[in-house]
Amino acid sequence: MPIAGRGRALHDLLHEDCFLWMRSQKEGAVEAIVTDPPFGLVEYSDDQLTKRQAGRGGIWRIPPELDGVQRKPLPRFTVLKPHEVGALVAFFESWGREALRILAPGGHAIIAGNPILSPLVASALMAAGFERRGEIIRLVRTLRGGDRPKLAEQEYAGVSVMARSCYEPWGVFRKPLRERTVAENLRRWKTGGLRRTPDGRPFPDVLKSETPPANEETIAPHPSLKPQRFMRQIVWAALPLGEGVVLDPFMGSGSTVSAAAAIGYRAVGIEKQRDFFEMARRAVPKLAVLDVDWESFESYNGGNGRT
Ligand SMILES: C[S@@+](CC[C@H](N)C(=O)[O-])C[C@H]1O[C@@H](n2cnc3c(N)ncnc32)[C@H](O)[C@@H]1O
Repeated sequence: MPIAGRGRALHDLLHEDCFLWMRSQKEGAVEAIVTDPPFGLVEYSDDQLTKRQAGRGGIWRIPPELDGVQRKPLPRFTVLKPHEVGALVAFFESWGREALRILAPGGHAIIAGNPILSPLVASALMAAGFERRGEIIRLVRTLRGGDRPKLAEQEYAGVSVMARSCYEPWGVFRKPLRERTVAENLRRWKTGGLRRTPDGRPFPDVLKSETPPANEETIAPHPSLKPQRFMRQIVWAALPLGEGVVLDPFMGSGSTVSAAAAIGYRAVGIEKQRDFFEMARRAVPKLAVLDVDWESFESYNGGNGRT
């Protein structure tokens, strides 16, 4: 069912390093975190962003043309060296400790991942004190994987080095409850569970998705833009009673904050790169008012039971 984005809920966009901001907040300041972090850590460094712009070298790979259309660069996480993987685990452990502190007890953190790195991020976040509560699988046809062996494409025309990736895992983590039961935690802190879909079904852990539509990419040309339809679904789920504040500490162009604003949730977005922060300032008011058919929660296996 198409519904109008409302786009009027309160939100704050901040140009800052999220570690500094989180350290300045009191315990339990936010009820949920929904974010798409810089996975390889290096891909959003100044150095790598310059290589991306030049169209060669570094972690950004230009995928092959598809239907005669040149695709946008994608980060290649398989090129991370062992010390970069170690740095990634250390980064998410220290980020996880800050995130855990500022979440209300029972608050959820829903974190974008990719099939290669998400197990490392999950173990780092559990080491920081989070409970792992499964994953939401975004079914989306990406251009990751599926390549023939480099420089031997003809010789090994029947081989793919890796499976073509058709999903994006979003880790679901929860700060341990403070109260004895979920019900008591909901009463006291407004957190502890996931919100059911608008028509009363359980929130499913597989959601059909798509790459962002052209109008959203025009509004927010960030290399890691996520589509409003998917973002509105997971942001909806993150606040079980629809009350509280959603934080996106790695905001990029603001797709999480826009989704929250469209639904009517309060949100805070933080971005440390000035260009992306300015992009978010321009994009959020436009993305938040787009009409997007998100309430139907088209799901792979959600069924229609009202259990
Ligand atoms: C993967 S992108 C998120 C893009 C977002 N999904 C969107 O739809 O636009 C991650 C973002 O985090 C930002 N970032 C990286 N480290 C940060 C930090 N310490 N504090 C705040 N932002 C940071 C990067 O500049 C980048 O824009």
